[in-house]
Amino acid sequence: MSTHVASPNKLPSDFLWGFATASFQIEGSTDVDGRGKSIWDDFSKLPGKTLDGRDGDVATDSYQRWKEDLDLLVEYGVNSYRFSIAWSRIIPLGGRNDPINEAGIQFYSNLIDALLERGIVPFVTLYHWDLPQALYERYGGWLSKEIVEDYVHYARVCFERFGDRVKYWLTMNEPWCISILGHGRGVFAPGRSSDRMRSPEGDSSTEPWIAGHNVILSHAYASKLYREEFKATQGGTIGITLNGDWALPYDDSPENVAAAQHALDVAIGWFADPIYLGHYPAYMKEMLGDRLPTFTPEELVVVKGSSEFYGMNTYTTNLCKAGGDDEFQGKVEYTFTRPDGSQLGTQAHCAWLQDYPEGFRQLLNYLWKRYKHPIYVTENGFAVKDENSMAIEQAIADHDRVQYFKGNTDALLAARNEDGVDLRAYFAWSLLDNFEWADGYVTRFGLTYVDYDTQKRYPKESGKFVAQWFKEHVPKE
Ligand code: NOJ
Repeated sequence: MSTHVASPNKLPSDFLWGFATASFQIEGSTDVDGRGKSIWDDFSKLPGKTLDGRDGDVATDSYQRWKEDLDLLVEYGVNSYRFSIAWSRIIPLGGRNDPINEAGIQFYSNLIDALLERGIVPFVTLYHWDLPQALYERYGGWLSKEIVEDYVHYARVCFERFGDRVKYWLTMNEPWCISILGHGRGVFAPGRSSDRMRSPEGDSSTEPWIAGHNVILSHAYASKLYREEFKATQGGTIGITLNGDWALPYDDSPENVAAAQHALDVAIGWFADPIYLGHYPAYMKEMLGDRLPTFTPEELVVVKGSSEFYGMNTYTTNLCKAGGDDEFQGKVEYTFTRPDGSQLGTQAHCAWLQDYPEGFRQLLNYLWKRYKHPIYVTENGFAVKDENSMAIEQAIADHDRVQYFKGNTDALLAARNEDGVDLRAYFAWSLLDNFEWADGYVTRFGLTYVDYDTQKRYPKESGKFVAQWFKEHVPKE
């Protein structure tokens, strides 16, 4: 259990808080120091794949400006920073028999040392979507079981080279997105649009579920490796981070109440149920039949209990209505409009996000009760509507984002201190505006504004708000 707190209005002094980023979204310098290509390199250059037609070649230039980014972290006063390692910087061709790139290792090693020198705990994601292109070409990436051994080898290299200093490991970021957005809807790399409804000739009906299955196995075997060979000497912890938004029934009709549970079963249970409970959700089996892969008994032993905590990325709440044939969201329709016509919350720039802090608190309670593992909130954030077309002075006065974080930090405190949820960390997404995948640079999630013409960083009101909030609520040791 985490440390007891005397005041109901405080978090414990060992509560980790800070900002999160991901390699491909911030680093740029894609052909520097021996980095191999990732599946996002070429994909982001294909016409129509990003909203503004821009790619990740420069991003926020953080591979060059990382010290400046650390200055920002110090200015905000964080005690932790979540970032990801680019697999293709460590092993440019990705595979277990491919050469290791010392320059890539050195880059992250320097970053980790510099964080520690500043008293900032590194919280490291091993995979945040930038799969080495060579592995996709070799055997289809996540579509092949071959990947399990390659991923575990990559993880081993990271544990060996960084594990003396890194004590928090996240194996995977958001498997639902890897599987559905990358192998179902085709909007993320590698862009496989195998959705049955959209391309009847495609191998739709199976690919996303196979990709998801191999992500789970890769996570589980890497976690086994860590716990068997590294944990005792290095003393860290390892887990996975899942995306998942809260689901509320549109109204109290039995079919919509069931729909909300079905939405959770596919968005969260698909990964969380095998990992924490040891089986896929019954609803997924019912919906997919033999298109849902199965684990062998030996695999299941490795999968069940493979995450030592619950890594949670969450952004919003959906109202759920039964119906539709979209398997990717459990044959459930999502809306933000209540039966009386009112909206759930403030609309963000992206269509899928509204601000609803009560949902955040309810989700924390649901995950704690169902999966019974300490929760690390590894992402939470908001993109202000039309921020990209504002002048800098206007953009940094990001009132809607401040409101979002006000609501969610208070909900966090209440979930921990009133509801008893074992909460240990909170990372706001993101330290900087950055490459927002299919949205290019149009949608800004940063708590720091980035002027892409000059690469200058400007703290937003929200960044200052979050920093102040945690300063007030996390006592210094
Ligand atoms: C989740 C992803 O992990 C991150 O990469 C992305 O930028 C944010 N959500 C916002 O969409």
